[in-house]
Amino acid sequence: MDASLSPWRLSVAPMLDWTDRHCRYFHRLITRRTRLYTEMVTTGALLHGDQARHLDFNPEEHPLALQLGGSEPEDLAACARLAERWGYDEVNLNCGCPSERVQRGAFGACLMNEPRLVADGVKAMRDAVQRIPVTVKHRIGVDRTESYDFVRDFVGTLAEAGCEVFIVHARNAWLQGLSPKENREVPPLRYEFVYRLKRDFPHLTVVLNGGVQTHEQIAAHLAQVDGVMVGREAYHQPWLMADWDQRFLGAPDNPAQDRDQVEAALVAYMARSGVPWSHIARHMLGLRNGLPGARRWRQVWSDHRLKSQPAQAVWQQLRDMAPAR
Ligand SMILES: Cc1cc2nc3c(=O)[nH]c(=O)nc-3n(C[C@H](O)[C@H](O)[C@H](O)COP(=O)(O)O)c2cc1C
Repeated sequence: MDASLSPWRLSVAPMLDWTDRHCRYFHRLITRRTRLYTEMVTTGALLHGDQARHLDFNPEEHPLALQLGGSEPEDLAACARLAERWGYDEVNLNCGCPSERVQRGAFGACLMNEPRLVADGVKAMRDAVQRIPVTVKHRIGVDRTESYDFVRDFVGTLAEAGCEVFIVHARNAWLQGLSPKENREVPPLRYEFVYRLKRDFPHLTVVLNGGVQTHEQIAAHLAQVDGVMVGREAYHQPWLMADWDQRFLGAPDNPAQDRDQVEAALVAYMARSGVPWSHIARHMLGLRNGLPGARRWRQVWSDHRLKSQPAQAVWQQLRDMAPAR
């Protein structure tokens, strides 16, 4: 990576149930330099559950961040240590998730009301690792807070605790009355707050997230902040990322010439993955969006009746169906 470019310049957002290791492998076929994030893993799941299942990843996935959900400094420290030992490039704390389940566990967006507790968590995590950065993903406010000062003070408190990278979903989280999905759509986006954070804390890395869909928008935000994180659009329209390496990340070329090449590589991965191919294919269903035949192609890769066949056979059927594609 070009040393003058921030490692956070472009990233794909952590998305529960979506950005699992198979999804990330798929994204890596399209962009080599974009930073990738795991789904959120709670400290409880990591400390008391199947660590390998939560933490294992393919070596191709670097640069890769583990996102944690939790609030107990000791637990966060133990999990940060695990992240480093497992080979992650970053450990990120989720202070932006509004779901009720998360609220009851006292983590996610409600933590923005407790900056001191988060600061203790960040400090404990930083003390626990040697090599990897500890970063925070958060919102610009909770509930009806409208003031910029709220997020400025939150960031200021965490910066004092040593956090240097802030990923800011540019809308409030409304902790009551909205589903998590509505909480990604209803509270208004306020990019100006994120720009202001960068102006007020020029030495910090500030990454903007929320509602970004085009290269033009990415370029406009990059003129104001250090990085842009893209969630839903990257998942639903993955080919959007096909020229990010060259266009934004200083690479001499892009990893994939065309979508056929990506599909062929993912089919090969399906064949050796050891999991049913449908677990992997579901992440690539947007790959051909906008092309003729995309609907039929999507139907085949999500056809339950084909699940007993090997991925290679399904792929061959699709190729036999050409030139409709
Ligand atoms: C299906 C789904 C799951 C998500 N899971 C997480 C999560 O685990 N951790 C997190 O910090 N944000 C999560 N988010 C929020 C995204 O990371 C991101 O902040 C949000 O979608 C706004 O970005 P976008 O408009 O580019 O999608 C999730 C979003 C979606 C759509």
